[in-house]
Amino acid sequence: AIQHSFVSRAQKPSQRSYNYVQPRASYKVAILGAAGGIGQPLALLIKMSPLVSTLKLYDVANVKGVAADLSHCNTPSQVFDFTGDKELASCLKDVNVVVIPAGVPRKPGMTRDDLFNINASIVKDLIEAVADNCPDAFIHIISNPVNSTVPIAAEVLKQKGVYDPKKLFGVTTLDVVRANTFVAQKKNLRLIDVDVPVVGGHAGITILPLLSKTKPSVAFTDEEVQELTVKIQNAGTEVVEAKAGAGSATLSMSYAAARFVESSLRALDGDSDVYECSYVQSNLTELPFFASRIKLGRNGVEALIKSELEGLTEYEQKALEALKPELKASIEKGINFVHKQP
Ligand code: NAD
Ligand code: LMR
Repeated sequence: AIQHSFVSRAQKPSQRSYNYVQPRASYKVAILGAAGGIGQPLALLIKMSPLVSTLKLYDVANVKGVAADLSHCNTPSQVFDFTGDKELASCLKDVNVVVIPAGVPRKPGMTRDDLFNINASIVKDLIEAVADNCPDAFIHIISNPVNSTVPIAAEVLKQKGVYDPKKLFGVTTLDVVRANTFVAQKKNLRLIDVDVPVVGGHAGITILPLLSKTKPSVAFTDEEVQELTVKIQNAGTEVVEAKAGAGSATLSMSYAAARFVESSLRALDGDSDVYECSYVQSNLTELPFFASRIKLGRNGVEALIKSELEGLTEYEQKALEALKPELKASIEKGINFVHKQP
């Protein structure tokens, strides 16, 4: 057994361990876009979960080999592969969690919004199938631009009459993972102890780390706040530039997405102490979607944690106001996209 490594001690005091032989629960997880840069390592990490009995992999290409390869790992879950429109329904039947990293990644010089034209349609089509086949599943959206693809998913689910705002999540865990790493490095803290909430959205200045709410409590100079905030906001671009045309973050993203899946499964399994940051339907600000810390339960979002948005520093308060117009525009762009469809 190895240590559970997705959750920092600040979030989850009791450490759990993996058991590769016996499943502890029997949840079914589907990954749409499973043969991609994120999909493959994410599938591997989920294959290691003792909470998963069935792992269903869907992609428009190359998924058979990924599933055959993965199926040889002697961990509890069974792996199934699906490809093409006709197999999407069977992939989604009975799943508890569906994770969507399908779509194109950025190249240097692009914003996440530059992906909208391609990824909006991909997400819309996949969510239609989710609505038809597993409307009760937790839906984790990774495909960018997350600020718009989550509102797109919500509108599609509404049109299908199955929207449950408690079960639709934009995956912003990578922002938290990055913030935890960078703060621990800067302040020489033990990584396992550090937990930084990141709120707003998932693009540029809409990514707002609340450094003043870091656990354990730690003091930052104004210069450190500025430097860390910009580093966290630009971390995705740093990877895009380093990969020089070969895509965006895949490994750290898979790690983050696997953590969010594991948290969701623990919540589904009755753990009453599961908290994550995620971009969800929200009433914490005037914006209809907003990332904040949430409490997860059996039915999805059990509570939005308002207290972390109170008592912000002047820097954070200004940054919060500054991000709202961009986030609002991205949300409206997503909603309009669905309503303009023939
Ligand atoms: P990739 O190109 O390596 O993989 C994408 C996969 O999606 C491919 O295998 C492709 O065949 C598949 N795909 C395309 N259309 C599909 C469809 N209609 N149905 C099923 N599968 C389909 O890209 P990647 O690096 O894995 O990134 C995927 C997405 O995740 C990008 O949009 C990227 O911007 C986003 N991303 C988000 C975060 C985040 O923090 N939320 C982090 C990193 C990347
Ligand atoms: C990230 O934050 O790494 C992702 O959103 C991918 C990207 O385009 O930066």
